[in-house]
Amino acid sequence: MKLSITINKSLLFLSLFIVSTLPARDAWDWKNIDTSTVVFDTNKMLFGVALAEYQNSGATNLPNSNWAHWEKQPGAIENGQTSGVACDFWHLYKTDINLMKDLGCNSCRLSIDWSAIEPQEGKFDESAVQHYHDVIDSMLAKGITPMVTLHHFVHPQWFEAMGAFEKQENLKFFVRFCVFVFSKFSSKVHLWCPINESGPLAFQSYIIGHFPPTLGYTHLGFKFSFGTAGQVLGNLMKAHVLVYNALKQMPNGDKAQIGFNHQYLNFEGYNVWDKPIATVFRYTFNTVILEFLKTGIFRYDAYGFKATRIIYKDILSCIDFIGLNYYSEVIIRGGDARCYDHEVMTDMQYAIYAEGFYAAIKDLSQFKKPIYITENGIGDAKDDRRETFIKRYLYAMSRAMHDFNADIKGYYYWSLMDNFEWEHGRLHKFGLYEVNFDTLTRTLRPGAACIKQFFKPLPA
Ligand code: BGC
Repeated sequence: MKLSITINKSLLFLSLFIVSTLPARDAWDWKNIDTSTVVFDTNKMLFGVALAEYQNSGATNLPNSNWAHWEKQPGAIENGQTSGVACDFWHLYKTDINLMKDLGCNSCRLSIDWSAIEPQEGKFDESAVQHYHDVIDSMLAKGITPMVTLHHFVHPQWFEAMGAFEKQENLKFFVRFCVFVFSKFSSKVHLWCPINESGPLAFQSYIIGHFPPTLGYTHLGFKFSFGTAGQVLGNLMKAHVLVYNALKQMPNGDKAQIGFNHQYLNFEGYNVWDKPIATVFRYTFNTVILEFLKTGIFRYDAYGFKATRIIYKDILSCIDFIGLNYYSEVIIRGGDARCYDHEVMTDMQYAIYAEGFYAAIKDLSQFKKPIYITENGIGDAKDDRRETFIKRYLYAMSRAMHDFNADIKGYYYWSLMDNFEWEHGRLHKFGLYEVNFDTLTRTLRPGAACIKQFFKPLPA
């Protein structure tokens, strides 16, 4: 008996050792890769920056949003910060469009904020509509093609109060807003993203509690509202289909390209004991959504909450392009997010991992839809890794285009300038331009300047 326990224990340790020393994820030999040879045909592709209205304009400019209410709560934002005017894109957009032009951008992904357009239920604000006409016209005048996101994590407080995306019967309000915006802008805007990142939105709101509606951490750091998260995710999938079908039937619907945006965020466990939590995170962020794109069926099964909803069997007929947001892949190690020893962390909980970007493009290419990289960037307050990040990720993208003809139509760097990074406030610095939040001056970071070499217009 004793012997067999000893043997079993040895076997257990041996197997743990084997699993915990599995080869690290795919790693390219960067020392022998020359990223300076990468050139894109900027006459055929869109290159620019991605912005989100709340992150750039803050609670002061968007007082009727759920976030303006949310961020006032003690503990909602790190260091007790609030967004204020953020970087005040609302007023400084002309300056910022010039900055885009200086970088060589020919496109910009921006969001039109629902709470600005419809501050009270059913009451549409014509001055906000005019504001967005001014922004979009200024872009067009500079040769910058707009791509518009209709929901980037923020909605009006009145919509939050009625349960937001938790209730299927509320989707009609989102559709009505999208139809309204499309009726105003579809003659000028042809690229649309109805919803930014459904996975992180549901996860942050209902599992971690870093986003509205309920401040998180009830048990072991998690709210464990997997049921509500699943409900919301399913409703967001449904919302995409409803919006797509509604907009396509409208004037200019045939000219519009309406994309499905997804943050491809994989999680891996470093050691065998890290794997179960990695699997749960990967599942909610990524797997469920990829399965939905394959089948049109939303199948959710997490911690005893099970749901199967047939959303739309022919889902790919409701997607003109895939909008890929890619930052990295998270390695969970000892309950914390870390990286392999040869890798370099960003300021977020993940490393620089361009190989994962290549793999994500490859995976999404299975859907045979054009792909826009709708977000890609690094939080790097010291600006000592940004240049490496930009060069490696753009190299990975060009390699995907070369190796398997990835149909990439555009690339948007996140972000033009430092902004309000949700629960982290102003802690994280994603900007190509550094923002002094006292004076609102913008200064190009040395590590960002190299992006011009990729964005520069080629001779026609
Ligand atoms: C979001 C942005 C966010 C960025 C960096 C993306 O998931 O769409 O709003 O700022 O990641 O964390």
